[in-house]
Formats: sequence, C-alpha cells, structure tokens
Amino acid sequence: MKISKICCIGAGYVGGPTMAMIASKCPDIQVRVVDINAERIAAWNSEELPIFEPGLDEIVKPARGKNLFFSTEVHEAIETADVIFVSVGTPTKTYGMGAGKAADLCYIEGAARMIAEVAKGPKIIVEKSTIPVRTAAAMKTILEANSKEGTFQVLSNPEFLAEGTAVDDLSDPDRILIGGDPTEAGQEAVEALASVYGRWIPNERIIRTNLWSSELSKLVANAFLAQRISSINSISALCEKTEADVDEVANAIGMDSRIGPKFLKASVGFGGSCFQKDLLNLVYLSGHFGLPKVADYWQAVIDMNEWQKERFSTKIVQTLFNTVRGKRIGIWGFAFKKDTNDTRESAAIYICRDLIMEGANVAIYDPKVSKEQVFIDLEYLGLERAQLEKQIIMCSSCEESAKNAHGVAVLTEWDEFREVNFQKVYDGMFKPSFLFDGRNVIDAVAVREIGFDFYAIGKG
Ligand code: NAD
Ligand code: UGA
Repeated sequence: MKISKICCIGAGYVGGPTMAMIASKCPDIQVRVVDINAERIAAWNSEELPIFEPGLDEIVKPARGKNLFFSTEVHEAIETADVIFVSVGTPTKTYGMGAGKAADLCYIEGAARMIAEVAKGPKIIVEKSTIPVRTAAAMKTILEANSKEGTFQVLSNPEFLAEGTAVDDLSDPDRILIGGDPTEAGQEAVEALASVYGRWIPNERIIRTNLWSSELSKLVANAFLAQRISSINSISALCEKTEADVDEVANAIGMDSRIGPKFLKASVGFGGSCFQKDLLNLVYLSGHFGLPKVADYWQAVIDMNEWQKERFSTKIVQTLFNTVRGKRIGIWGFAFKKDTNDTRESAAIYICRDLIMEGANVAIYDPKVSKEQVFIDLEYLGLERAQLEKQIIMCSSCEESAKNAHGVAVLTEWDEFREVNFQKVYDGMFKPSFLFDGRNVIDAVAVREIGFDFYAIGKG
C-alpha cells in the first residue's frame, strides 16, 4: 500500500515538528497539519513559528507551501488523506472520575468522532498522542459505530522526541515503535507506516509490536526516565547533608555501563507536559487494574519530585533569614528546560508561586518565555492578576534580573546563563548576595570568589 497523503490532527509540539520532518524527508508525500486553534495555525504559517525548537525553521520553511501545509480545514484534510495521525493533547483530567490522575481523553474522542463523520473509504488512523493502554480499542469502537462510509485500521505509533532536541530526535531516533492488529490488514497498515519512516530510518530501528505493548511502552518509557531523575534527586538531598557532591556521585555510578551516564542530572525537579501526567496516568491505570502496590511505587517518583521543588523554595526562604517579604529575587529561566518556550509544569512556576506567596518580588528573565505566559501559568495556580502585577518584574537580561536582588535562583539550564559575567552582576547588587543554582549550571568556584553565598542542588 502506497501512502501519498498524510493528515495530522493537532499542530502542537509533537504534530508540528513530526510532520515537518516527514515532509522534509518525503517530498512526494503531501502532509497537512490541521488544528482547531486558528491562532496557532496562523503562527505556523508566519515567519515566527509558534514553538521554539532549534533547527525547526530550517525544516518547516523550505517545505511549507510545497508538500507541507498548516490549516484549520480539518474536514477536508481528513477526507483526502490515506493516513491520519492523531496528535492532540492528553492532559491530566481535572474533573470527575479519576480527576488529578487519569488522562483526559476528550480531545482524542473528539478527533475520532470527527474522523468517523467525514472519512470515506479505507483510512489508517495513527495514535501519535500518549494515551492509556487499550485506548485503540475505544478508538476503533467510536470509529466503527459512527462512520457510514469509512473503514479503519488503528495503529499505535508513540512519539519519543524531547523538547529542545526535537529535530535531532526526529531525524535520528533511537527507535520508532509501531503497534498494530495481528490480522493481515493490520500488518499491512503497520508496513505501510514503516515504509514512510524507512525513507530515513534503518529498518532494524523500526520496532513492530502488538497495539497494547506499543501503547504501554510509551507510558513506561517516560516513567523509567522520570524515575532516574527522582532517584538522583533523592540522593542530592543526602549529598547536601554529607558533603558529598551529587555530580561526582552521578558520574561515579553512571560509569557503570549497566546504569549509564544519561538522565542523572540532579535538578530542582523535572517539569514538562509529559512526565508527571504520564506517571499519574500509570498510577491511575495500576489502581484501576487492582494493583495498589504498583500504583504506590510510581506515585513515589512523583512525590519525590514535588518534595524537591518544595525543598528548593524552602532553602531560599530560610537562607534569606526566614523572610523574603518585600525582597527582590532574580529568577533566571522560566521554561521547563533549555531550548524551548514551553513552560508546562515547569519547576519555575511552583518556585515563583511559593516566593510570591511569601511576599517576595520576583524579577524574571527567560530568553523565550513571554510575560503573558508567566501570568497565565501563575494565575492557573490561583494567584490573582493584581498581585502578580505588583510582585513580578519581567526583565530582558540576567543582569537586569539580578540588579539589586537579595538573591538569584537559576531555574532553567539555558546556555547563556553559563556566560554571565558575575563581576558585572555583583557590582549592581546589595550585599550579602545569594545564588541558588537549581540546575547546577553556574561555576561555583568563580561565583564564590566574587563573594556570593552559593547554594547548588546536591552540593555539600
Ligand atoms: P499540544 O497541546 O502542544 O498540541 C495539541 C494540539 O491539538 C493543540 O494545538 C490543540 O488545539 C489541538 N487539538 C485538540 N483537539 C483537536 C481537534 N479535535 N482537532 C484539531 N486539533 C485539535 O500538545 P503536544 O505537546 O503536541 O502533545 C500532544 C501529544 O503528544 C500528547 O499526548 C503528549 O503526551 C504527546 N507527546 C508530547 C511530547 C512533547 O514533548 N510535548 C513528546 C512525546 C509525546
Ligand atoms: C520527555 C522524554 O525525554 C521524551 O522521550 C518523551 O517523548 C517526552 O518526555 C514526552 O513524552 O513528552 P521532555 O519532557 O520534552 O521529554 O524533556 P526531557 O529532556 O525529558 O526533560 C524533562 C524534565 O526533566 C526537564 O525539566 C529536565 O530539566 C529534567 N531533567 C532531565 C532533569 O532534571 N535531569 C536530567 O538528567 C534530565
């Protein structure tokens, strides 16, 4: 089966870059990315793309208007496509049954109903979003019950890209995972999708599994990654009590090839739109299937992450003589990691919330995050706009943020923070000055020489 037209529902952090990569590697395939959010689509069609991702402009702009299209014409795109990727959000439910844990599948269901309504003839539906195991069964039921003229094969093809490195991850992924039905038609669909990826990814890196293994593997992959961060963060607290250095411990254990060096960077806590939501979902699923011990085990990974964030806010307040009321605190970085403008579940939101509630004024600088986004994130946690207007100062450089601050907290590991001239910063500041490094990116020796009191995660 030859694929010539692809449609992707959802033009977000996954749908946009993933489809841009397919379009750039397969010039003969027409790729249409559709979204109900007209503003987002307009941004995809403009000079300034809605998401910041190194290397993204270079793959989007040459293909756009040739074989890559962004539009709000969802129906038309579904009608003409052979393959429809579903790449809509699957956030944690905030209401009803399973609130605070289960994945909210309303966007998935909405997409499935829309496909059922308009599709004519055979279509391959690809679950790109991260979803609970056995969602494909629900998808199939919705599609089949609501469609008059369509026939469907549902595949699971979870995405493993990380934000900030999406383009590299997509062009040279560790693996592509495709789950499908064991039937002949199911396997034919699996091979049709594999042949698209096969244009640039070696066949041995394209894993074929059953639907349920593929769906579950995505949640488990994120849970294992998050678990490593919570494990090293638990040790960071022990290091602070014992004069051990967490980077040295991570290096020493990571050189055991069975453990490996990656994902052992102690931090103020993991953020992002996926780890916490996917762990919560795994906890929920484990409970649902009557496995409370399994649920408790993975819940502990989340609890450790919450504790790490609280521990950091508390450290700032305690160090500044147990009161930050009326004090200015510089915040370097608001995104959940470097090289992205995404702030979803960023540790910075929680640290700023805690400091603002303690009465501090926070002077925030992030190279890619707007004031509006900062306000949206803090309002979501229940803070009033009037209070935010009084206590947040948005800055356009690290130096401006640090000027006259009682302390500075580094909350994202942007490369430019490593280049800051501390002598210059120091000149404009009160004494004593405190630096709290939540990402271990600042050169501690140089900073201490200038006379800062220095606190870094996991340093004795
Ligand atoms: P996102 O919120 O950036 O994008 C989702 C988009 O879907 C939104 O623009 C929304 O308007 C659109 N949408 C919702 N319902 C729609 C409908 N019926 N028709 C058309 N458009 C619709 O989300 P994201 O970060 O791209 O994540 C998407 C999925 O991929 C999630 O399940 C997530 O867990 C998973 N994932 C994300 C990442 C990541 O790094 N962000 C990585 C791997 C997997
Ligand atoms: C993560 C996974 O890495 C991707 O494989 C997955 O596809 C994605 O989730 C998803 O499903 O959405 P992402 O959240 O974009 O990707 O970014 P990561 O690089 O994993 O970082 C997540 C958080 O962990 C960040 O806050 C980061 O600073 C933190 N982190 C990461 C650490 O604190 N220490 C580390 O060693 C690594």
